[in-house]
Amino acid sequence: SLPTQDELKTLVGQAALRYVTPGDIVGVGTGSTVNKFIEALATIKDQVRAAVSSSVASTERLRAIGIPVLDANEVEKLSVYVDGADEIDGHGYMVKGGGAALTREKIVAALAQRFVCIADASKLVPALGQFPLPVEVIPMAAQQITRRFTTLGGQATLRLKDGQPLVTDNGQHILDVRGLQITDPLGWESAINQWPGVVTVGIFAHQKASVCLLGTAQGVETITY
Ligand code: A5P
Repeated sequence: SLPTQDELKTLVGQAALRYVTPGDIVGVGTGSTVNKFIEALATIKDQVRAAVSSSVASTERLRAIGIPVLDANEVEKLSVYVDGADEIDGHGYMVKGGGAALTREKIVAALAQRFVCIADASKLVPALGQFPLPVEVIPMAAQQITRRFTTLGGQATLRLKDGQPLVTDNGQHILDVRGLQITDPLGWESAINQWPGVVTVGIFAHQKASVCLLGTAQGVETITY
């Protein structure tokens, strides 16, 4: 029978161990696929010196399996950052932030020489924009940023949790923007980053994936960019 999406996530989480060198400090992302990577890391945890994590949730899981978690300020360079994506295109450009952790994800990714994206095949898209684009914003700027997205043809909505605005690990809010066709990810990432009140836009183009481990019915496909 065909593998389930959960099984594909397990396969790519395990495959990412290939990029972990003994003695490494590993950059660890956030999400259900990364949770499989953390489970796989548990099997080689004696070889992992420490981790830098992109969310409170991943930090808790890493500590639970006995891997020390360092603050990003304690580390100058990581050889690898492993994370999922909400969408990835043929260039390795990604949309991220479905789990609201995009700002810390970009910060940890920026420390790494290599970004290994782990994803099931449903994440591969011809062009970014079908998944609503997450943007972390300073709350007092949310309405003006929403209006700016309207001029680009996008509809921004404030992400809620239990009926209240979701508050990120950084104490800010998230807008989810539907209806965008992100034809120029590098240009858009730069432009939106300049808008006052934008903390982080969920386009990862300047820090794209170096390699994608894609879980397909035929097994794990390795795509390098
Ligand atoms: C977290 O903010 C996101 O960028 C995740 O990387 C993304 O949502 C992937 O999560 P899943 O592995 O659960 O699909």
